[in-house]
Amino acid sequence: MIKTFQNQIALVTGAARGIGRATALTLQSRGARVVATDVSEAVHELQAEDIVTLTGDIAEEATAIRSVGLAVERFGALDILVNNAGRTMNRALIDMSVADWDDIMSVNARGTFLHCREAVRAMLAGQGGVIVNVASIVAQVAMKDTSVYAASKGAIAQLTKVIAVEYGAQGIRANAVAPGVVETDILEGIVSDSRATLASHASAHPIGRVGQPQDIAEVIAFLASPASAFMTGSLVMADGGFTAL
Ligand SMILES: NC(=O)c1ccc[n+]([C@@H]2O[C@H](COP(=O)([O-])OP(=O)(O)OC[C@H]3O[C@@H](n4cnc5c(N)ncnc54)[C@H](O)[C@@H]3O)[C@@H](O)[C@H]2O)c1
Repeated sequence: MIKTFQNQIALVTGAARGIGRATALTLQSRGARVVATDVSEAVHELQAEDIVTLTGDIAEEATAIRSVGLAVERFGALDILVNNAGRTMNRALIDMSVADWDDIMSVNARGTFLHCREAVRAMLAGQGGVIVNVASIVAQVAMKDTSVYAASKGAIAQLTKVIAVEYGAQGIRANAVAPGVVETDILEGIVSDSRATLASHASAHPIGRVGQPQDIAEVIAFLASPASAFMTGSLVMADGGFTAL
């Protein structure tokens, strides 16, 4: 195995399960030392010689400061930030409350903003770096019942582009990945079987199946690696052709 991320330090949010867990383990297996964070204590299961874990809510400024600080204190720098943690909400616009808006925006948009800001500060003090933000196909195309979630993902996509423009000359790249439907537990508490519900969307993807966490982790790893050195400010669709329809 080529150690693409040898001597690289990565921070992955939402690493307890799903896409974040697959990403943290992929970067680790390719040589990175990883700070893995999540609001869930389950993230501690990832602890290893080259993975340190931290619990906290990404919507809180203190979590972003602590997470980036941990990377710098423990490993000496921060080279890669993967803003993956996020929550969804599937409901008609007219049934969305102000509290729903604040809830989703504070995690998905504010949490991503805070971690980008802290990471850029650390990267400017170091050797530059790479940011990969996890958006969604709904940052690009409209789907019913996703208004607040889609607005938060649109914010992430545009934030990513501005960071690319603002800090490109200083050695910082920023790209976003837009997954199609991926079979995870993201709908836990919303439907009785999250994975089965998501898997039932296979036919909406020209490739004939929904994504698996590793499908997205591979795209994130590419965007975090020098192989994508000429890419910044992109919203990269990883959606089995969903948005090509
Ligand atoms: N699964 C899909 O179909 C799909 C599609 C497009 C985009 N995405 C995005 O991919 C990302 C990962 O989703 P997933 O499908 O792996 O979901 P998931 O629910 O399996 O994992 C998300 C992780 O983020 C953590 N998290 C949630 N809120 C947090 C907070 N406030 N602070 C810290 N951690 C928090 C959760 O505890 C969980 O471990 C999300 O940003 C999601 O919006 C998912």
